[in-house]
Amino acid sequence: ANNSESTEQRLTEVCELLQTSIGYYDWVGFYFANAAQETLHLKAFAGEPTDHTVIPFGKGICGQVAVSNKNFVVPDVKAQDNYIACSITVKSEIVIPLFKDGKNIGQIDIDSHVADPFSLEDERFLEWVNEEVAKIL
Ligand code: SME
Repeated sequence: ANNSESTEQRLTEVCELLQTSIGYYDWVGFYFANAAQETLHLKAFAGEPTDHTVIPFGKGICGQVAVSNKNFVVPDVKAQDNYIACSITVKSEIVIPLFKDGKNIGQIDIDSHVADPFSLEDERFLEWVNEEVAKIL
């Protein structure tokens, strides 16, 4: 419904709001799937720029969520073997799939410099954020 520029701006504002409001949300980004290419593409973020703007399905925490359709909470990134490191300061991560009309079209990805900070409350909250975001897509 919206042109891509304004959607990107709105997504960036959501990332910035989350990153500045919640102390342990150090990097917040939205990746969206290209189903034909089986890749995820970073569309908006807040925090340090990352090299990982394109992630193949199946690779890393993000790529696994693209195929599992399930929340992925990582209390300790060092304990994961299928993990793409963005920064040595990251200790933990949470990825929540974003559904539009029942389809997994992308995800919100949050990195934290804190060990094991993510609770069920974060999962429920971020599921709600994604539901709200799906309405502007
Ligand atoms: N750590 C992610 C890659 C994206 S960066 O965190 C921004 C992963 O393993 O998929």
